[in-house]
Amino acid sequence: MKVTISHIKADIGSLPGHSTVFKPVVDEVEGYVKEHGSSLLKSYYISHVGDDIQITMIHTRGTDDEEVHRLAWEAFKAGTVVAKKYGLYGAGQDLLKDSFSGNVKGMGPGVAEMEINARPSEPFIVFMMDKTEPGAFNLPIFRMFGDPFNTPGLVIDPNMHEGFIFEIWDIIEGKKIKLATPENTYDILGLIGSKSRYVIKRVYTKKTHEKLPDENVAVISTDKLSLIAGEYVGKDDPAGVVRIQSGLPAAGEVLEAFAHPYLVSGWMRGSFNGPLMPVGMKDAKMTRFDGPPRVVALGFVYKDGALSGPVDMFDDPAFDGARRTAVEIADYLRRMGPFEPHRLPEDDMEYTSLPRVLERHKSKFEPIEDTPKGKKVKVATTDVD
Ligand code: F6R
Ligand code: MG
Ligand code: MG
Repeated sequence: MKVTISHIKADIGSLPGHSTVFKPVVDEVEGYVKEHGSSLLKSYYISHVGDDIQITMIHTRGTDDEEVHRLAWEAFKAGTVVAKKYGLYGAGQDLLKDSFSGNVKGMGPGVAEMEINARPSEPFIVFMMDKTEPGAFNLPIFRMFGDPFNTPGLVIDPNMHEGFIFEIWDIIEGKKIKLATPENTYDILGLIGSKSRYVIKRVYTKKTHEKLPDENVAVISTDKLSLIAGEYVGKDDPAGVVRIQSGLPAAGEVLEAFAHPYLVSGWMRGSFNGPLMPVGMKDAKMTRFDGPPRVVALGFVYKDGALSGPVDMFDDPAFDGARRTAVEIADYLRRMGPFEPHRLPEDDMEYTSLPRVLERHKSKFEPIEDTPKGKKVKVATTDVD
């Protein structure tokens, strides 16, 4: 049976500032989905991380469905009315267009969707991050599906041994490529290491790809709010859906990819590197330096139209060590104040105020006599026999 998992998220106002959502707003969004979604959806779940409200929907209408996207858009609109009533900070921030036009893509909300042939038991995990960008998923998704040191199933399980296919998007040029592990491992890493440009969009199994080219096992939202809006309107905090078990990475293998809090871009003013801290829902709010960036994992099982769960997977002492390390990394980095590499390089800062601040001094710069203009020198490559 074909079903679609549509995960759509947006920041429509926060309390007190970019920290967390406000219950009456979440209730309004949930109430709207409940009232207007009954004929469209088989089931849904509303959650949140940081200042983003997250709607997970199950239906049979395929990806990019106008009515499902409209439902999410209108639910966020309804929530925005409540957010405005309470004067929440940044009310309606991610709703960049005045009216809905067929699809929420390019309108502000983030979308991760997949149409699948549901297995007799269909377990999956929804990962939701705040204060970071879609490329923050590159490392953990690669570890789940491409790194045998994270996922022993790649070595041990005959159903995983042949590897996976990664669809990688160049979000600057708007191009995509499919590359497979293990044969293209180094090329994949060569691309996705540049995580502000090349982002993993989907993962496919080799076994099904030829017969069912659209059947995918992981999908990440790749919406770039800053590129959509033309200027900074908030980080494009990403979400991802990952199917698990039975020829796919086990629940514990996908969670293991977050056991080390690696650095991601975002955090304060979308302009700093910081550790990605795995947390349970009770800690899914942003505090220190508007962060640190966090990831929540909700585990579900789908069967015959119904969703069981979720299980709050990182709400567990097994991840205490990762959280402690994240705090240590935060302590270490914060001492650098506004210096790189804690602060992002100029081109990756998504905040527009620094260029405006520096603009004031632009005309005061004087040329330095007898100094050649700085040009980046390309390092010569040597052919290896
Ligand atoms: C980063 C983020 C926050 C804000 C910061 C300043 O994604 O949302 O760190 O950038 O709180 O916010 P404004 O400029 O709205 O006062
Ligand atoms: Mg925000
Ligand atoms: Mg956010």
